[in-house]
Amino acid sequence: MTNRDIYNNTAAALENSGCDFSDYDIRCLMEHFLGTTRFDLEPGIPCKAHKTQLAAFDEAVRKRCQGFPLQYIIGKWSFMDAELYVGEGVLIPRDDTEVCVRECISLLGDDPAPKIIDLCSGSGAIAIALAARYPKADIIAAELSGKAFPYLLKNIEHNHAENITAVNGDIRTLHSRYADGSFDAVISNPPYICSREIPLLQKEVQSEPVIALDGGEDGLDLYRVIARHWLRKLRPGGIISLEIGEDQGKSVPALLREEGARNIRVIKDISGLDRCVTALV
Ligand SMILES: C[S@@+](CC[C@H](N)C(=O)[O-])C[C@H]1O[C@@H](n2cnc3c(N)ncnc32)[C@H](O)[C@@H]1O
Repeated sequence: MTNRDIYNNTAAALENSGCDFSDYDIRCLMEHFLGTTRFDLEPGIPCKAHKTQLAAFDEAVRKRCQGFPLQYIIGKWSFMDAELYVGEGVLIPRDDTEVCVRECISLLGDDPAPKIIDLCSGSGAIAIALAARYPKADIIAAELSGKAFPYLLKNIEHNHAENITAVNGDIRTLHSRYADGSFDAVISNPPYICSREIPLLQKEVQSEPVIALDGGEDGLDLYRVIARHWLRKLRPGGIISLEIGEDQGKSVPALLREEGARNIRVIKDISGLDRCVTALV
């Protein structure tokens, strides 16, 4: 059997399952489980994988056919330059989140050692990207979920981000632990999907934890908490950078404005959709 045959058989199996897949999915699965490179997919190249590798590959394709996310099957994903472990119970980091990290960096500038808190840290994607940019920063990564928290710890260690302290807690109450004016930056990608929209999400997204997606009746529950309790944790002149849903470019700025934030900006992602809100206090 050639690598091409395996590619074609996998494409047919995924097609028949009705799963939403791409050429990229098959290449990733083959690379991860069979060790193939893109050059090995030229016609006529025999498959050199061991039968245990082929068995693991078949099992992975079976899961993918059931709509299980590629990233969970592979167990790792990348965000900016970091390699992150992911699996059931933790949100898969999205490229869109880069917008909110880049805006935070552009506002913090060359501050050599900023004090930053990443609220709702999940896999630690945001905190780890900031730790790489600011090796002398003091970063707190706060996460409530008992399933996501072990991934956060593992990813901090895997990326040697010694300047991140992980805190397992609820941002609705955790604010009381920190004095007002404690931070130079508050950053967050909180759950922001309206509860009623959760059952309508794509099958792959529904495999991700509800706690990472569900932002309450109007999607704004945790933005209210952040505006009300976390803005005051910033020092005067401190910055906030929040990822938002594409339809929240008015509601989230309004919540920040009500709590006294200034210089509020809404930034779009590469698809032209509102994706991030930044402000100063
Ligand atoms: C949209 S995910 C973002 C994860 C990560 N920051 C990222 O960008 O990939 C939201 C995260 O918030 C966590 N979370 C939800 N409610 C929380 C709360 N009340 N306090 C702390 N974390 C919470 C979820 O478990 C999830 O990991």
